[in-house]
Amino acid sequence: MAERDPFVSFLFLAFLFFFFFLVYDPVLALGGRNHGGGGCGLGAADPRLQTYIVHVEQPEGAAFTDLEERDAWYRSFLPVDAAADGGLREPRWVHSYYEVLSGFAARLTEEEVAVMEKEGFLRAFPDTVVPLATTHTPEFLGLHQGSGLWGTGAGGGRLGEGVIVGMLDSGITPGHPSFGDDDMPLPPSRWKGSCQPPEFCNKKIIGARNFVTDNDPEKASPADEDGHGTHTASTVAGSFVRGASVLGSAKGTASGIAPRAHLAIYKVCGIDRCKSSDILAGMDAAVADGVDVLSLSLGGDSMPFYSDMIAIGAFGANKRGVFVSCAAGNSGPEMETVSNDAPWILTVAASTMDRSIVATVNLGDGSKFEGQSAFQPSGFTHESLPLVFPGSVEEPSAPIYCGQGSLVGFDVKGKVVVCQRGGYVANVAKGAAVLGAGGASMIIVNRELEANTTEATAHVLPASHVSFAAGTKIINYINASSHPTASISFEGTKLGLSSYLPAPAVASFSSRGPSVSSPGILKPDVLGPGDNVLAAWPFPVGPPSKNTGSKGASFNVISGTSMAAPHLSGVAALLKSAHPDWSPAAIKSAIMTTADVRGNDGELIKDENSEPASLFDIGAGHVNASRAADPGLVYDLGTSDYVAYICSLGYTDEQVAAVVGQRGACAAVKSISGGELNYPSISVTLRSMSPKVAVNRTVTNVGEAGETYKVEVEEPAGVAVSVNPQTLKFSEVKEKQSFTVSFTKRGRAHGSLQGNLRWVSAKHAVRSSISITVE
Ligand SMILES: *[C@@H]1O[C@H](CO)[C@@H](O)[C@H](O)[C@H]1NC(C)=O
Ligand SMILES: *[C@@H]1O[C@H](CO)[C@@H](O)[C@H](O)[C@H]1NC(C)=O
Ligand SMILES: *[C@@H]1O[C@H](CO)[C@@H](O)[C@H](O)[C@H]1NC(C)=O
Ligand SMILES: *[C@@H]1O[C@H](CO)[C@@H](O)[C@H](O)[C@H]1NC(C)=O
Repeated sequence: MAERDPFVSFLFLAFLFFFFFLVYDPVLALGGRNHGGGGCGLGAADPRLQTYIVHVEQPEGAAFTDLEERDAWYRSFLPVDAAADGGLREPRWVHSYYEVLSGFAARLTEEEVAVMEKEGFLRAFPDTVVPLATTHTPEFLGLHQGSGLWGTGAGGGRLGEGVIVGMLDSGITPGHPSFGDDDMPLPPSRWKGSCQPPEFCNKKIIGARNFVTDNDPEKASPADEDGHGTHTASTVAGSFVRGASVLGSAKGTASGIAPRAHLAIYKVCGIDRCKSSDILAGMDAAVADGVDVLSLSLGGDSMPFYSDMIAIGAFGANKRGVFVSCAAGNSGPEMETVSNDAPWILTVAASTMDRSIVATVNLGDGSKFEGQSAFQPSGFTHESLPLVFPGSVEEPSAPIYCGQGSLVGFDVKGKVVVCQRGGYVANVAKGAAVLGAGGASMIIVNRELEANTTEATAHVLPASHVSFAAGTKIINYINASSHPTASISFEGTKLGLSSYLPAPAVASFSSRGPSVSSPGILKPDVLGPGDNVLAAWPFPVGPPSKNTGSKGASFNVISGTSMAAPHLSGVAALLKSAHPDWSPAAIKSAIMTTADVRGNDGELIKDENSEPASLFDIGAGHVNASRAADPGLVYDLGTSDYVAYICSLGYTDEQVAAVVGQRGACAAVKSISGGELNYPSISVTLRSMSPKVAVNRTVTNVGEAGETYKVEVEEPAGVAVSVNPQTLKFSEVKEKQSFTVSFTKRGRAHGSLQGNLRWVSAKHAVRSSISITVE
C-alpha cells in the first residue's frame, strides 16, 4: 500500500517528488487500484536520458511569425544528434513553453545539456517527478443565497459568471451532476482553449486536456483516475446539486464557491504523482487559453524561486493578469514547512469548519468521547463489545497503525479495535484491515501532533476518529481494565459550535510559516476550509455493501490544504466576476485585509491544540468572502514590484532570469526587501544593529469617493509602531495614498511578535497582520 501520510512522506520524498496536498485518499485505501509502480516515469527508457526543462532567452529584436517558427528555434538548441534522435532512438521532445516561460522540456543526456551553450540558452533544470501529496462551506465563508457576493447588491449576484478557472490537477469526471450546465451561459468569446476529447465538455467544463506525458498515449485523456481533480474542481465551481451527501451524512445542496464560473481542466497528475515539466505545460496552456484564475492543489517543498517550477509558472501567469491560488502543503504542524510561498501566489492554509459528523465513543467505565465518521450506520448495534489495542503503549510497533495484514495473529474478531493515526496507513485502509481481520468496529486515535484535528471519513465499517487527548484516555482505560469494552453511537451531522471545539481552527496537517525561500513575506497568506470537505467524487465510497452512489455521481469527504486552495480559487473567481478590472494583487489584498481573526466562539482563531494560532499558521486569518467583495482599500502590486523584490534575494543574474524571463532585469530596478513590498501583510526583522525599521505602503481606494480612514494599531508587545500620516482622505475612487510604518524595538523584546494595523473608515476596516522577528 502506498504511503499517503504526508507527515512522513514529505520528509522522505520532498526533494524528488511533488504531492497532491491531500491528507488521505480513501479510494486508494480500498486497495482497488494499481499504482503504476513504474519508477520515475522514464520506464525502461535509455538510462542516459532524463527530462530537462530548458529556459531560453529570446534574442533581442527577434520576433517569430508563429509558434512553428518559435518551436524550430527551440529545437535548434538540441544537439544535432538529439534533434535527429540519432543513436538513442527515442522521441526527445516533451513540451514547448510559450507563455509562462520561453523554453521547452526535452529528454537529454547530461553530456548533451553540458554542451548546450548556444546564444540564448539560460538554464537547464532536471525535471522533478512527483507521486502525490460542499454542502456547507459556502455558508461558512459567509456566502448565503441572496446576500453579499451571492446576493444582488454591489458586486454580488454574479456567482462567478464570465470567469474561467483553470484546474491543474488529476483531471475530471465529466457527467457528474456537479458539472451539469443547466444554468450556465456560453463560454466568453475570448476563450481559446479546447476539449480533447470533445465529449468531456459542456458549458460548465469548457476545456479539458491531458498533459501527463508518461501515460500510454492511447489512454491520454483528461479523465480523473484519482478523485482529487474532481473534488477540487467541484469545490471551486460545482453547480448546485440538491440532496448531496456522503453515505447520507452532511446532507444538503452541494455547490462550488463560484457556481456560475466555467472550469478549464488541465490534467497534469496521474494517480499519485505529477511532474513539474507537465505542470508547467498545463500552466502555459491555461494562460494561452485565457483563464482568469489558476488553482493548484499540489506542490513540493519550499525552494528558491528559480528552482520552483510552480513559482516560475505562476510568475508568468501573474504577469498576464492571471490569479494563482495554491495549497500551502500538508507538512504541519512543524514550523517552516509552508510551500508555494512566492509573493505572487496566494498561499492557502487549511482549517476546520463548524460541521462535525459525530460518532461518540462510550467506554465501559461510562466515559464518552466525541469523534467523527462520515459513515453513520443506522443498523449498528450499540451494545458494548470487547475493546483492544493491537500493540503496546510502551513499545509502539507496526500493528498500532492497523496497516494491511498487520493484524494477523491478533484476536480482534468481533471486537472494537483501536488504531493509531498515521504510520503510512490511510484512515480508510485501517478500517479495511480491521474489517479484513474480523473486527466489528474501529476507533482511530490521534498522535500528539494531530491533537484535536479529526477526520469524518467514509469508512468501510462503523468507526470513530478521536483526538489525542481522548485517545490517551481510551488507551489508559484499556491498560488499566481487565475486560475493557466500548460502543460507538452515531449522532449525525452537527452544525455550529461543537461541544468543545470552536471553528475555524487550524488543521494539524496545514503547513506553517515562516517561509524558507522568502522569509521577508509572511506566509501562508490566508486560511480556508480544508478539513472534512464534501465535494464530487468519481467512485462509490464507504462499505462495499453500502455503495449506493452510482458510479460517477458520488460525493466524498476528504481533507488537506488541497481542499482549502480551491475554496480561495472560487472566492477569487467571485471577486474577478464582480470586479473585472482588479489585478491579481488587488484580489489577494481584498481577501487578506477582510479576513476573520476570530472563530465562532468570538475568540481568536485556535490551532489544533486549541491554543491561539500564530500568524505563521493563519497569515491574514480566515477568508470571509462576503467582506472581501467590498474591502474599501487595496494594496496593489505589479510585475515590476515583484522583480524588485526578487532582486533583493541574492540570486545570480541567470537565476533571476530563470524566474522573470530575461537577463539584466536587476540592472533596471532598485531592489526592495520583502518588508518593503506593497504586500497586504507586513513582515519585518529588527536586529540589534538595526533596532528601527520603516516600511512604506500605498493603498488604492476601491471604496467610495470622499472616504476618510484613520489608522488603528495593535502594537506587538515590545515594539513601538508609528504610522505617518495617521489619516488618509480619498476624494476619488482609484486614488492612491502612501504612508510609512516605523517599528522600534523597546526593551528586551525577542523572538516572533505579532500585531495588527487597521485603516478604518465609517464603512470599511482594512487590516494588515504585522509579523515582527526580533533577533
Ligand atoms: C463575515 O463578515 C460578515 C460581515 O462583516 C459577518 O457578519 C460574518 O460574521 C463574517 N463571518 C462569516 C463566517 O460569515
Ligand atoms: C484539544 O481540545 C481540548 C478542548 O479544547 C483541550 O482540552 C485539549 O488539550 C486539546 N488538545 C489535544 C492534544 O487533544
Ligand atoms: C499500563 O499498565 C501497567 C501496569 O499494569 C503500567 O505499568 C503502565 O505504566 C501502564 N501504561 C500506561 C500508558 O498507562
Ligand atoms: C518611504 O516614504 C518616505 C516618505 O515619502 C520617503 O522619504 C522614503 O524614502 C520612503 N522609503 C522607501 C524605502 O522607499
